[in-house]
Amino acid sequence: MKALILSGGKGTRLRPLTYSGAKQLVPVANRPILFYCIDNIVRAGIRDIGIIISPETGAEIRETVGSGSRWKAKITYILQDTPAGLAHAVKTASKFLKNSPFVMYLGDNLIGRDIKKFVEDFGRKKADAMILLKEVDNPRQFGVAEVGRRGNIIRLIEKPEDPPSNLALVGVYLFSPMIHKAVDRIKPSRRGELEITDAIQELILMGRPVKSFVLDSWWLDTGKKDDLLTANAIVLDEWCRNGIEGTVDRASKVLGRVMLSPHSVVKGSTIRGPVVIGDNTVIENSFIGPHTSIGDDVRIINSSVEHSVILNGSEVLNIERVEESLIGKRVKIFRNNGHKAFRLMVGDDSVVEV
Ligand code: DAU
Repeated sequence: MKALILSGGKGTRLRPLTYSGAKQLVPVANRPILFYCIDNIVRAGIRDIGIIISPETGAEIRETVGSGSRWKAKITYILQDTPAGLAHAVKTASKFLKNSPFVMYLGDNLIGRDIKKFVEDFGRKKADAMILLKEVDNPRQFGVAEVGRRGNIIRLIEKPEDPPSNLALVGVYLFSPMIHKAVDRIKPSRRGELEITDAIQELILMGRPVKSFVLDSWWLDTGKKDDLLTANAIVLDEWCRNGIEGTVDRASKVLGRVMLSPHSVVKGSTIRGPVVIGDNTVIENSFIGPHTSIGDDVRIINSSVEHSVILNGSEVLNIERVEESLIGKRVKIFRNNGHKAFRLMVGDDSVVEV
């Protein structure tokens, strides 16, 4: 069994954060989303992993993930020239996949359980495709499945206007090599992409068995700010442990589970976990509240921050209260008491709520 992770695409939905980086590398609890995908694949016993990358963000992904040695896995990078669809990505990876069954994992998805059982079931049920589904409130934003009584798939539609059910396709799929035949038979959709939903539908038309598995845990398609903050809170709840490697002075209080990297300093502040703080960061005379992830080289001075994600190199200075915020890299937010007006330099597509 091999794995194919899709980390190409344009990543427009997390703009402006993803103008300067791949959306699969946006951190949740200070680890890139893509790392959780690799963790899950490796836990299922799969170590031969292909990663689809795009010309724009491929180098950054290669550099961050590396050879796979930290997971004891072998990673092969596969360049997809244009984001022409999920089925196009499978086509692009055909040399890597050869005649092997594989799990396809969208690199911007986080799921709250292991895929091990799902992989084992696929082996037992002898299907040509198995898809992971989850009930959602907003099925129009996803691929949607109409499922028969015994879990067999009747129909799949990508982002339907009139969804036949509320069962969305989670971005994890298992395929036999038969999927390549189906991909060869489909044409680009209305939005000009080779859709994996159409390829799976084609398998059904070819009379091949397609099974489904309804996910019983949380699933976050981390495309948007609030999704990302929720993912951050859930992962911190489940994964954050106590680990103070940096320096905390005597005037500070650390409550609950807090991870503080080496070379970081907390002075005269209160940190209430779960909180993770990266390397070389300074927190001074501030309050950091639960469910907050702070990256490397960040400065938070005379401020209060909670339920937020702050990426590397940013500064929050003299701000009474920041909450439910997603702050990109190298951003500076500070109060200037000399002025009543806001003085802003905000990049394209940003949102400022005051
Ligand atoms: O998140 C679940 C949804 O993911 C499913 O319900 C949909 O059926 C499925 O089509 C997909 O929809 P999205 O609109 O979320 O797909 P997105 O364009 O965001 O791409 C998903 C991942 O695949 C992302 O990591 C980028 C990567 N990708 C995407 C395309 C179109 C590629 O590597 N190559 C591509 O050509």
